[in-house]
Amino acid sequence: MKYHIVTYGCQMNVHESEKIAGLLRSAGYSEEAPVEEADIVVFNTCCIRENAENHAFGNIGALKKLKRQKKGMLIAVGGCMAQEAGKAELLVRKFPFIDIVFGTHNVAELPSLIERKRREKKVVSLLPDRAATEDGAEAYRTSYPNAWVNITYGCNNFCTYCIVPYVRGREKSRSADRIIEEVRALVAAGYKEITLLGQNVNSYRDGETDFPALLDRVASVDGKFRVRFMTSHPKDFSARLVEVMKKHDKICNLLHLPAQSGSSRILSLMNRRYTREQYLEKVALLRREIPEAEITTDLIVGFPTETEEDFAGTLSLVEEADFSSAFTFVYSPRTGTKAATMEGQIPEEVSKERIARLIGRVNENTRRKSERYVGKTIEILCEDFDAKKGLYLGREPLGRMGYFASAENCVGKFVQMKVTRANGVSLYGELI
Ligand code: 5AD
Ligand code: SF4
Repeated sequence: MKYHIVTYGCQMNVHESEKIAGLLRSAGYSEEAPVEEADIVVFNTCCIRENAENHAFGNIGALKKLKRQKKGMLIAVGGCMAQEAGKAELLVRKFPFIDIVFGTHNVAELPSLIERKRREKKVVSLLPDRAATEDGAEAYRTSYPNAWVNITYGCNNFCTYCIVPYVRGREKSRSADRIIEEVRALVAAGYKEITLLGQNVNSYRDGETDFPALLDRVASVDGKFRVRFMTSHPKDFSARLVEVMKKHDKICNLLHLPAQSGSSRILSLMNRRYTREQYLEKVALLRREIPEAEITTDLIVGFPTETEEDFAGTLSLVEEADFSSAFTFVYSPRTGTKAATMEGQIPEEVSKERIARLIGRVNENTRRKSERYVGKTIEILCEDFDAKKGLYLGREPLGRMGYFASAENCVGKFVQMKVTRANGVSLYGELI
């Protein structure tokens, strides 16, 4: 039997889809296939912004015809959107051909839900009051030589725009010993890059082990591999963490530190619990200790009441913090969050105009920083072959993608590339 998974949203979801694939394999779906040939189609949804939801709604709706032709094909919808208050009911009402709806808290039960579906008409299983997903699903990894490892689930921060704490539940840390065991096994299996994942990795805690201590243990595992981590909440980013980053060559000196806004007034309304100045202090701390470090970020425009002056603060932060790249978003009101009912919602045309300016500024910075690479030699971990370009590709430690030609298959290897040309976040060069 064959499966097809459609993933929306962040890295967390991409890794969760690997777990879903592992579970489907254990349930007898042994092969991945295009949607038309699949015996089960799973939608792993995201609800962080409205357009992610609309996308999923569109794609699920598009399966109506196929489902009519292939009665035996199962359609399952999981992920954040399925877990969101009232959305499961809406999904089932709108798309009566959905067979299974499962939440983010019970991914591991997917095989038993499939089993139940064989006996019952429709299966909806959401566990709203349980702590976030724990282990119990072994990932079927498709991202070699990179491997993602969850360290925390859920979030306690309640940024006023964000729905994550409502759908993913309270933050929970995995056991440090189990994380280390998983990392050791991955390194032994040949994985070359480990990315520790959590909504806010900096608030990780298992007994005495906090995030810097965990990172220290992960980077102390023997073998040649890189360590990355995301996401860091600026309020919890500490000097101790910088010390650990400095101590280990294995830890990439790239920090994803979402600022969200460059205006202290907006940051306060967002409940981010730091000011622009405090954010810039964290940036300065990192740069002082690790001068070559690079920072990427997330920025939101059009948060309720955002003035042109607030927005100018976000624009100027791009240069002041010297981001090497940034994910930029138009604020999207999410039902149930505090910001959704705030006065002063910003008209869409204003937000659209602002985000265009912001993207321009970010791209400008990215380009300027990438150009400095020309002529330098960097270490690339080769990830894949781009058939269209006829080039191998992979990342350097600070996150830029490098493209190069090679007669032999380099996937999974560390190679040295001399940069001859830069284009945005992409670098082109020759192997040396
Ligand atoms: N609207 C726009 N962007 C959002 N994000 C989270 N919630 C919203 C929202 N309601 C962004 C934040 C976060 C990233 C994962 O998504 O920038 O860091
Ligand atoms: Fe959402 Fe804020 Fe938690 Fe990130 S830290 S998941 S933005 S509530």
